Amino acid sequence: MAHGEVIQGRWSNRMTFILAASGSAVGLGNIWRFPYTAGEYGGGAFVLVYLLCIAAIGLPIMAAEIMLGKRGRGSPVSALTALARAHNAAGAWRSIGWLGMLTGALILSFYSVIGGWTLDYAVSAAAGRLAGLDAARAHDLFSAMIGDPYRLFVSHTLFMGLAMLVVARGVSGGLERAIRWLMPTLFVLLIGLVVFAAQTGDFVRGLRYLFEPDFAAFGNRAGEAVLSAMGQAFFSLSLGMGAIMVYGAYMQEGTVVGRSTVLIAGIDTLVALLAGMVVFPIVFANGLEPAVGPGLIFETLPIAFAELPAGRLFATLFFILLMIAAWTSAISVLEPAVAWLAEATHATRRRATLLAGGTIWLLGIACLLSLNNWSHITLFGKGILDLLDFVTSNVMLPLGGMLIAVFAGWVVSRSATLETFGISDRFTFTAWRLLVRYVAPVGVACVFAHAVGLL
Ligand code: PFF
Repeated sequence: MAHGEVIQGRWSNRMTFILAASGSAVGLGNIWRFPYTAGEYGGGAFVLVYLLCIAAIGLPIMAAEIMLGKRGRGSPVSALTALARAHNAAGAWRSIGWLGMLTGALILSFYSVIGGWTLDYAVSAAAGRLAGLDAARAHDLFSAMIGDPYRLFVSHTLFMGLAMLVVARGVSGGLERAIRWLMPTLFVLLIGLVVFAAQTGDFVRGLRYLFEPDFAAFGNRAGEAVLSAMGQAFFSLSLGMGAIMVYGAYMQEGTVVGRSTVLIAGIDTLVALLAGMVVFPIVFANGLEPAVGPGLIFETLPIAFAELPAGRLFATLFFILLMIAAWTSAISVLEPAVAWLAEATHATRRRATLLAGGTIWLLGIACLLSLNNWSHITLFGKGILDLLDFVTSNVMLPLGGMLIAVFAGWVVSRSATLETFGISDRFTFTAWRLLVRYVAPVGVACVFAHAVGLL
């Protein structure tokens, strides 16, 4: 394939790829979703399974996605098409790209609503509305927000608009610039919050809750708990839908796949664990429930900020940074579809973004209504937003990831992968091949089987 023809851009250097991919990985998944999901399934045992999934399934699949992108150089659909053709495999492999775009659209529709919450809270914090909150008032404040469809509509629209703005401007103009300074700042603030939680929260209990595996906490929901831990690993690492693949396509030739993978996954995991170390000590110190669901950080962190000197400033800063972290992830969810639309229809990036983003924005409205006016519409006991969150992370991403692993491990030749990996370390490469051919696909299949009671 002629590279220059399809590719939508190129990162300006090696560090930018790492930053962009970490920007994609680190987001609401780490700070909003990880604590509340861990809290729903009882803590330590969930965290242990999550970490195992990162190591045995997430790492090899992330390397596979980067490798496929770097080799295929295009949107996931065209990269997979080109690679399948080069290896005389069926063109149908490109459907992994289609599945990815559908998954991405569904994810972004609810992700943007939650991104809107962070915007809303940043404004509330700046206006001093979070000052002096106790647990009961923090709960009321959150309920008031999600009960108000107009307010949610405004913040969802703003958030989606921000994501579309960056994607429309393209890889180096938009994506790169937004990401460069955010990650370090967020990291420093999170460390500061951990120190605060250690001083004022019930730190020991929080740590034990996170790191002491107690499988009895799964109760009779072990299948669902393990499935959710795996889904969280996929969601948090941005795997299974082509987001990391399309970022890999913009990678410079000389960047090595293996080391980048470990770095990105390491940063992502660290941020999630730090978020847990902030949230749970505060939860226990204030006699709150870890299992309150998606409102967890919005109901707990404001209490901590209320006690902090200069709490108003820190709260504002925190929600702004969280919003930006969500923003850099949202753009990566949108990118595969926009890259494909721009390639396939020769539309400008701006048009492609408007089309994909507009559709997702509409879907997002259904998500936000499911929190209030449409809360009676449920399936399997879940409203639209919760259902999309559950199905995309726990079913669609792992399914996409499993197919990616099979494609990278069994279809693409050993020599082609070795060349693209760009490493001289044969041992690492052999280990990766083993993981991606056997461990990752079989692992996902086993978790699925366990969830439906077959194993
Ligand atoms: N990894 C992002 C987060 O943790 O918030 C969410 C995400 C981004 C999921 C990109 C999937 C994706 F393709």
